[in-house]
Amino acid sequence: EKDPIRVLITGAAGNIGYAIVPMIARGMMLGPDQPMILHLLDIEPASSSLEAVKMELQDSAFPLLKGVIATTDVVEACKDVNIAIMMGGFPRIAGMERKDVMLKNVVIYKAQASALERYASEDCKVLIVANPANTNALILKEFAPSIPEENITCLTRLDHNRALAQLADKLSVPVSSVKNVIVWGNHSSTQYPDTNHATVSTKSGDRLVKELVTDHNWLKKEFITEVQQRGAAVLRARKQSSALSAASAACDHIRDWFLGTPKGTWVSMGVCSDGSYGIPPGLVYSFPVICEKGSWKIVQGLNIDAFSREKMDDSARELAEEKDLAYSCLNA
Ligand code: NAI
Repeated sequence: EKDPIRVLITGAAGNIGYAIVPMIARGMMLGPDQPMILHLLDIEPASSSLEAVKMELQDSAFPLLKGVIATTDVVEACKDVNIAIMMGGFPRIAGMERKDVMLKNVVIYKAQASALERYASEDCKVLIVANPANTNALILKEFAPSIPEENITCLTRLDHNRALAQLADKLSVPVSSVKNVIVWGNHSSTQYPDTNHATVSTKSGDRLVKELVTDHNWLKKEFITEVQQRGAAVLRARKQSSALSAASAACDHIRDWFLGTPKGTWVSMGVCSDGSYGIPPGLVYSFPVICEKGSWKIVQGLNIDAFSREKMDDSARELAEEKDLAYSCLNA
């Protein structure tokens, strides 16, 4: 039997936490033969529900689950973890300014950067889910300089999956036959879901989505808005933000990163820009990536038209502004 992998989940007593732990423990993230030990972190006010999550995990008797550490101590939580899924954060409460939410979260991510840097396993791979996801990841990267920057990513896979789902629905095909959409940029309403390179597998081979969807106006308008606003639509309907789809997307993100993307398929991940596609280096930006043997690579050489260029730059501009705001919060 393989050695267990230690997986940290911060904000584990929250909405997404409750949805993701059974997925991980059932092997949906690391594969059906990979045992794991879960490290669950939350804050003091949530400690009783955190304990309940631990109890329910025990009661589920998951064969792959070799241990559960439920704690409010960040050092204990980070000790020797191989994977860190960061969902802990301060939610935006009605009436709160964007700047106030940013302040609360960048302070948390700066502190957790130090804890991970000091106590996590050297090869620890980090996925930031908590919003503002890209900027939290940027702060974590900048305040944990000894963690290789390629090990720090943020979640845009939910947006990617939403884009696949919208296209499958439009074309009345199974979602599994659609691939290679791209979500560029920030996990915010400036994200740009790009269908220029997306394909659908048909009996006569792969076809471009833009050849099959004849209404290009739909691809440039309704489709984009639908994907950008999907989170808000779920929130309105459920009166709570997306949880099971977010949990599932986080599992997809880690699984593909660890076990590789299927041949001929790319996925969207928020990663540190190396300047590809003219995106300023250092920003954490969502790109199309291919993963192999535990590493990701940005897909190169895709043709970018003027419409895409503008949208990609808009989202980069927003991220640069968020970065400035984050630093002004930290320095205040
Ligand atoms: P939630 O509010 O239900 O759970 C957050 C948990 O984090 C709470 O249990 C809270 O006590 C805990 N927490 C707060 N500060 C903490 C700290 N310093 N250390 C550890 N834990 C801490 O929120 P939910 O619905 O589970 O969402 C989690 C985050 O994920 C939110 O920031 C949300 O905006 C974000 N999100 C991101 C998505 C994405 O696609 N990137 C999609 C959906 C949500």
